[in-house]
Amino acid sequence: MRAANKGVNWIWSHIARLCPMISAMFPAESSNPLTDLAWLVEAGADEAMLDEPVNRFVQRAAPAAGATAPGKPAATKSIPVASPPHAGERRAFPHENKAAPAGAYTDQIGAALDIAAKCNTLDELRAALEAFDGGVLKKNATHTVFADGNAQARIMLIGEAPGRDEDRAGLPFVGRAGKLLDKMVAPIGLNRAENFYITNVLPWQPPGNRDFGLEEAAMCLPFLRRHIELKAPDMLVLLGRIAVKNVLGKTEGIMSLRGKWFEYFVNGRMVPALYMLHPAYLLRRPVDKKLAWRDMQSLEAKARELNILT
Ligand code: URA
Repeated sequence: MRAANKGVNWIWSHIARLCPMISAMFPAESSNPLTDLAWLVEAGADEAMLDEPVNRFVQRAAPAAGATAPGKPAATKSIPVASPPHAGERRAFPHENKAAPAGAYTDQIGAALDIAAKCNTLDELRAALEAFDGGVLKKNATHTVFADGNAQARIMLIGEAPGRDEDRAGLPFVGRAGKLLDKMVAPIGLNRAENFYITNVLPWQPPGNRDFGLEEAAMCLPFLRRHIELKAPDMLVLLGRIAVKNVLGKTEGIMSLRGKWFEYFVNGRMVPALYMLHPAYLLRRPVDKKLAWRDMQSLEAKARELNILT
């Protein structure tokens, strides 16, 4: 293991010496410059476009202390991301893969609507979800996975449901897919500590990581819709087919939807919503990282146009 690390460092030191443009993009603190570089190359960003190197992995200047977006309250603490015990992408374990019986959630759907509507802050919503009787779905989960990132961020990402790592850590997107996601958004200046907030359609890992059913989604959606209202983002990013289906009701093929912007109304205000390929899908089909990179560029352009990123 140590020999392998030595090898990587040796290769990296030669790349750094031979190609200052590449080395400038990956500062010494980058955990593994070669995997960072691999992401950009797989995404098709393999050509120098400018005369001077642009280090997209160095965090953009943090806003001055106390500075906030117009009309937004001052930033509060971000929730730290716990390291998962092991990283694994979302996959089903057939022996545990039992769908809930039809009608198992009938009572809970009405209750969810009622309870979510009464929550007036994100903290109240989190507490309500933690106290909620979510039937088999919740009983099988270790944690209620509410959200991660900066609660004051103007960009809100929505994924599908927690996987094993997220269920253990109690935080969304901390497994392999989450790590890829962080790597994908870093070059356009996004990170959880500062400028994005992330949650899932479902706050509980379905038993055996199976796909969840219509009733389970119907029980969780009142909480998600209230979550979006209380968070009141200026931009939504829907990660994967399940998110776009449940939030916007879109069921077309992922390739015809990806990269498109939709409109979602939050408290009477139009919020642009981008549909992107899910990072777990990209782990299975790395060849499509090129498409994801284009979507990242579209996200960056829109965020700059709306002064969300400066
Ligand atoms: N996939 C998701 O959609 N959400 C997570 O939190 C983790 C993996």
